[in-house]
Amino acid sequence: MPLVDMRDMLNHAYRNGYAIGGFDLVSLDFLEAIVGAAEQCRSPAILSLAQTHFEHYDFELAMAAVEKAAHRATAPLAIHLDHGGSYESAVQAINLGCNGVMVDVSHQPFPSNVAQTQRVVEMARGCGVAVEGELGYVSGVEGEDAEKHPGEAIYTSVAEANAYVQRTGVDCLAVSVGTVHGRLRGRPRLDFERLRRINEAVRIPLVIHGGTGLSAMQYRKLIDNGVAKINYYTALADAAGEQIRSNAKSRRSNAYTDLTQGIRTAVRGEVERCMRLFGSTGRAAELLAQCRPWLPVEHMIVFNAEDVSDAQVNGIMAHGCEVLAKIPGVRRVFAGGAVPDKARYRFCWLIEFTHERVIASYRDHPVHMAFASGLFRPIAGDRMSIDFVKACAGSPPRS
Ligand code: 13P
Repeated sequence: MPLVDMRDMLNHAYRNGYAIGGFDLVSLDFLEAIVGAAEQCRSPAILSLAQTHFEHYDFELAMAAVEKAAHRATAPLAIHLDHGGSYESAVQAINLGCNGVMVDVSHQPFPSNVAQTQRVVEMARGCGVAVEGELGYVSGVEGEDAEKHPGEAIYTSVAEANAYVQRTGVDCLAVSVGTVHGRLRGRPRLDFERLRRINEAVRIPLVIHGGTGLSAMQYRKLIDNGVAKINYYTALADAAGEQIRSNAKSRRSNAYTDLTQGIRTAVRGEVERCMRLFGSTGRAAELLAQCRPWLPVEHMIVFNAEDVSDAQVNGIMAHGCEVLAKIPGVRRVFAGGAVPDKARYRFCWLIEFTHERVIASYRDHPVHMAFASGLFRPIAGDRMSIDFVKACAGSPPRS
């Protein structure tokens, strides 16, 4: 099952009056639980990786598993960087396979938030990737008691939301209307009137952070007022934590696999509950029919080198591998020699792009232009290049 364009996914939810869970995952148990719940509920889901959690796992290693899980799932999924703190982290996330990124600079003054978000949007557009901006400030820390982090929430202003969306071109907007990250005592009071007015002004999918702990009625009213993505983590972490506590009480063994047994089922139960509350259950088929699949493109160049030694070609290719891999939207750069070397073309580049849009943004990127005109083209007059979009891919059967 292909990944789905995250912009299309959120627009589908926005138009059809439901919300998609952006579930933060921190381990393979969480990943399998979220994907399993999406398949069971025939629901879309967003596999969300929060930069604030990167001290707990290796983002690059986790992304390999997340991508694999998404490709073999039967439910439509997107992969999102949650709380991305910089332009560099957005580029890294895109090049590792995220098709949505959040720019989390809402604590900065409005003009600086706008300028930094604009820069990420421009880069992400060239990669086909959706961008979530944030205005206002949702206090608290995911997975912790809210009263431990009592910072003042700053509510999103309607006028600023309008100006921000116009100027940045974000695809969805995280708003602060009274939710809090983390575990709450009592129920938060949400400003639905403010949300209604923001929705009327911006008319793009809205995002709620701090999704844990609201009532069914509150989720419904959020969705009725334009919320199409609800970020959710603390209750998942609590379900996992309670499972570990209960394992520790009921089992003698301290073995890791004994203590962590059942986490997947516990987290999955909570994700399924959210999918029912958010109205996303049973939406998979219509969403897949109406949204564009997220497909990588393989940029292939075969060439012969003129007037240079093989060692010089290898040096140029090694330099190219290093610099080209840093261009936004480049997933992987492979350079190599033909086997056997009597082939019509003796050398090749295989460069995987996240998305078709990267064909143009890569071509015009200053790093590519400097490499291509300064080093590569002068030695590779005899060459051919083709861009292929993925039609299908085989992988070994699952055991
Ligand atoms: P909760 O931890 O309160 O569910 O919020 C999650 C979140 O907003 C992640 O961005």
